[in-house]
Amino acid sequence: MKTKAIIFDLDGVITDSAKYHFEAWKELADRLGYKFDEDDNERLKGVSRMDSLNIILEINNALDAFTLEEKEAMCTEKNDNYVKLISKVTPEDILPGIAKFMADAKAAGLRLAVASVSKNAPALLTSLGIIDEFDYIADARKISKSKPDPEIFTVCAESLGIEPEYCVGVEDSQAGIEAIHAAGMKSIGINVTVTSIAPDLPLGSTAELDFAAMVD
Ligand code: BG6
Ligand code: MG
Repeated sequence: MKTKAIIFDLDGVITDSAKYHFEAWKELADRLGYKFDEDDNERLKGVSRMDSLNIILEINNALDAFTLEEKEAMCTEKNDNYVKLISKVTPEDILPGIAKFMADAKAAGLRLAVASVSKNAPALLTSLGIIDEFDYIADARKISKSKPDPEIFTVCAESLGIEPEYCVGVEDSQAGIEAIHAAGMKSIGINVTVTSIAPDLPLGSTAELDFAAMVD
C-alpha cells in the first residue's frame, strides 16, 4: 500500500460542526445588521476566526470600521455562540462512514492526523470521544497561515514523519482542497462547492467513503 497517512479536516468532515460555525457567525452578523448567508459562508470554511470576521466585514464594506480591539471582541462573541452550540456534541455526532474509514485505515497500518485550524478542535474531538484515535492533532494556535495555505497539512505530514506524496487529505472546503494540493497530497472532497481546484476524489457525503476502494 502506497498511502501511509490520512489527514482529516474536522469541521464538516468528522462532524457537522461547519453548520454551527455558520450559525454562530450569523448570530453576530444579524446583531450588527450585516448581510451574511450560506453562500458567503463557503468562503469562511477552513479559514481562521479573525480572517473569517474580516471576510464578513469586507462583504459589508466595513473592513476599516473597527479597531483591532473591537474585532477581537466580535471574535470572542462569535466563539461564545459557537461553544454554546457545540456543548451538546456526543459520539453520536460523528458523521456516517467516518468511524469505519478510520478503523479500516488503522487496520491497514496507516497513521491518522487532524488538520483543523479551529482552536476548539481538541474540545470537539474530546466530545466526539475520538481524540485518542489520532497519531497527531495540529495545534491551531501554532498555525500562522489559514487554508488555502498548505502549512497545516505540511505540519501534520512532518510531525508524522511521512512524505506528503504518501498522505491523503480529507476536506469539505475549497480552501482545504487547495491546501492539500499545495502540500503535494491526494485529496478526497466531501460535498465541496468547487470554485477552483477540484478534489482528486469528489464525494457527496462521508457516507460514500470506502477505504479499500479509495485509498491505494
Ligand atoms: C475551521 C472552520 O475548521 O476552523 C472555520 O472551517 C473556523 O469555519 C476555523 O473559522 C476556526 O475555528 P475556531 O473554532 O478557532 O474559531
Ligand atoms: Mg471543514
